[in-house]
Amino acid sequence: MSARLLPGKPVAEAVLADVSTRVAALKAKGVTPALATVLVGDDDASAGYIRIKQKQAAELGFVSPHAHLPGDTTQDELERVIRGFNDDKDVHGLLLQYPIPGHLDYDRALQVLDPDMDVDGLHPLNMGRLAIGLPGPLPCTPAGIEALLAFHDIPVSGREVVILGRGATLGRPLAMLLAQKRPTANAAVTVVHTGVPDWARYTQRADILIAAAGVPGIIQPEHVKPGAVVVGGGVRYEGRRILPDVDESCADVAGAITPRVGGVGPTTVAMLFRNAVAAAERATA
Ligand SMILES: NC(=O)c1ccc[n+]([C@@H]2O[C@H](COP(=O)([O-])OP(=O)(O)OC[C@H]3O[C@@H](n4cnc5c(N)ncnc54)[C@H](OP(=O)(O)O)[C@@H]3O)[C@@H](O)[C@H]2O)c1
Repeated sequence: MSARLLPGKPVAEAVLADVSTRVAALKAKGVTPALATVLVGDDDASAGYIRIKQKQAAELGFVSPHAHLPGDTTQDELERVIRGFNDDKDVHGLLLQYPIPGHLDYDRALQVLDPDMDVDGLHPLNMGRLAIGLPGPLPCTPAGIEALLAFHDIPVSGREVVILGRGATLGRPLAMLLAQKRPTANAAVTVVHTGVPDWARYTQRADILIAAAGVPGIIQPEHVKPGAVVVGGGVRYEGRRILPDVDESCADVAGAITPRVGGVGPTTVAMLFRNAVAAAERATA
């Protein structure tokens, strides 16, 4: 392996240190930031993610009221719980853990959520804000990737970024984010997907290649320009196993690369808390 590693942990630590300072400032004003969580059903992995987020919330000084709804919850009941948190003046951010059981409509539930409390940054209004450059909660994984590149001094402005995947949580919002006119973005962004069968033609010329497909091993060394920066955002979970989009052997060709584990993931969680503290600041300004 010759590539420089781009770990996400120090990025997350820097973001969370800032969040801690902001939580302390809110508490000094008598405000305890509150991040509510909603879990539907008994999926072990989802319950595990909620526990991790609640532990982190407590460490940062948030309170995190939690609603655990049974797997047979109706759409109406789920929306009633979300509206209840929306209307609770002591709650500032709300996280609906994804996925929810198949009989429920996640997009509809998301639309019930107060957009200013949307710590995932995935509400349609927040996607719209991102599209036209208005301030608001940013989708966590795209924001985490921008922060990761900036933290590791990877120049983005003016460079060619190719994103494999145009999904709503990662590829699409990331493309909007990295094309914005800011020093840590400002890139020439190309998005490729299944509609572009010869997508390798594009990835091979990328200065920065970002995998956002969720197809294990889809990015192989022959898809990478020698010396390029490779960011692995897409992953598939098989039980506890993490199967990344980027094959490990890409490290032999890339100039810099996120590690197989501990790359983009920690930055995503950190951005969730950045959105949560910002929601508390807005609500109590
Ligand atoms: N690291 C983290 O913290 C984190 C957080 C959130 C999401 N993720 C991961 O990010 C990935 C993307 O999430 P998402 O919700 O945006 O996913 P998604 O909606 O499933 O989108 C996947 C995208 O990849 C494209 N794609 C799939 N197979 C392809 C192939 N063989 N060739 C070319 N393009 C292909 C799809 O193309 P079409 O549009 O043409 O179908 C689609 O645009 C997932 O793996 C998810 O687990 C990671």
